[in-house]
Amino acid sequence: MAIAERFEAKIAIVVLGTALALLSCVAAESTDHRRGLSGAGSNVFDVTSYGAKADGHKDNVQAFMKAWVAACKSGGPAKLLIPKGTFVTGPVVFAGPCKGSMTVEVQGTIQATSDVSEYSSPEWFSFENLNGLLLNGGGTFDGQGATVWKYNDCKQNSNCQILPASIKFYIVNNAEIRGITSLNSKAFHTHVVNCQNFTAHDLNIIAPFNSPNTDGMHISRSSLVTVSNTKIGTGDDCISIGQGATHVTISNVTCGPGHGISVGSLGKYNNEKDVSGIRVTHCTLKSTTNGVRIKTWPGSPPSQASDISFEDITMDSVKNPIVIDQKYGSHTSAPSKVKISNVRFKNIRGTSTSPVAVSLGCSSLVPCTGVQLTDIDLQYKDIDGKGKSISSSCLNAKITCGGKQNPAACDTN
Ligand SMILES: *[C@@H]1O[C@H](CO)[C@@H](O)[C@H](O)[C@H]1NC(C)=O
Ligand SMILES: *[C@@H]1O[C@H](CO)[C@@H](O)[C@H](O)[C@H]1NC(C)=O
Repeated sequence: MAIAERFEAKIAIVVLGTALALLSCVAAESTDHRRGLSGAGSNVFDVTSYGAKADGHKDNVQAFMKAWVAACKSGGPAKLLIPKGTFVTGPVVFAGPCKGSMTVEVQGTIQATSDVSEYSSPEWFSFENLNGLLLNGGGTFDGQGATVWKYNDCKQNSNCQILPASIKFYIVNNAEIRGITSLNSKAFHTHVVNCQNFTAHDLNIIAPFNSPNTDGMHISRSSLVTVSNTKIGTGDDCISIGQGATHVTISNVTCGPGHGISVGSLGKYNNEKDVSGIRVTHCTLKSTTNGVRIKTWPGSPPSQASDISFEDITMDSVKNPIVIDQKYGSHTSAPSKVKISNVRFKNIRGTSTSPVAVSLGCSSLVPCTGVQLTDIDLQYKDIDGKGKSISSSCLNAKITCGGKQNPAACDTN
């Protein structure tokens, strides 16, 4: 559809929606769940009007879903409100398509139930098939992960229970997520899959350094994703950018504790889509195991990761500040077939707690090309008193250098 047609269609839906909304207002006058009817976009569906109780015990899943369905079908832009208080709920699906764009305003704390057998699909909140979503309100999604992290044993146990991500966005286009806290997710905090034009900012993502698989945000098969002004401390990657991610910008993110900001892991599965156009800028990593990293599995099927830049990054006591690792996650010696090209590391400063501050381990089969190191200034913070000097290590990488190089760059020519 042309933009103008789309615009007209939208107006038609809004008008129709307002008419429907007025009708349903009359029908529902005794329940008083509609507030602030001050024009399109202010149709408010408060979960407490659908039976939700902030008593810290009741499972509110039915009330949340009823309120969602009413809001989604209401005809125009609509708001689902989760007011102040502590609301317990098991797995919730907020699915579209809806008749208008949706706002979910979380003012209170939502607490996940702990019985993992309830989570038949591996997410707690699933936002699906939506066009136009605003998630805001200053509230908290508390995944109550501490009770179940011990079940994160799929590496050893083939009958393991897959733990749910706290919030999954699946085919959610034109979305903004802001001012939300995600606390102690059971697995990933947030998972962005098949989304276009997705903006997340001013989030606070928190889990302990030793909580397993609690990636702050995993982005895959999505484009035009931006994440900014966000604080992430977890037990795994702060942000991981997986297959099929294109045009992703990460800026002003503070990460730590955690495993750093990663592209990958790539190449674990067949038919993965390429990754390109990734910008990570103005970020700070503090006491993380890795800083900025690209990781691919060995023996992987072929794919590409290209046009990736890490710029203006501060490393504060980071174990491995700059990493390309194409032998990630497995002991097979077959080389990776993920081709990495055009990667820029620029203005990266601070401290490394291991002597090898720059480690570029590329594939022998498809060496990295177009790797640029510009203005790298990392000091070795010798916390173990080993007295080693800082260095770089490179394998199968074509590197060009500019500006300051501390550690000295590998001579790959
Ligand atoms: C992206 O989504 C936002 C809503 O979050 C919307 O205002 C904006 O117009 C969208 N941009 C494009 C190019 O569609
Ligand atoms: C960076 O993000 C923090 C929140 O994490 C915010 O307080 C600060 O204003 C942001 N800085 C800029 C320059 O936007």
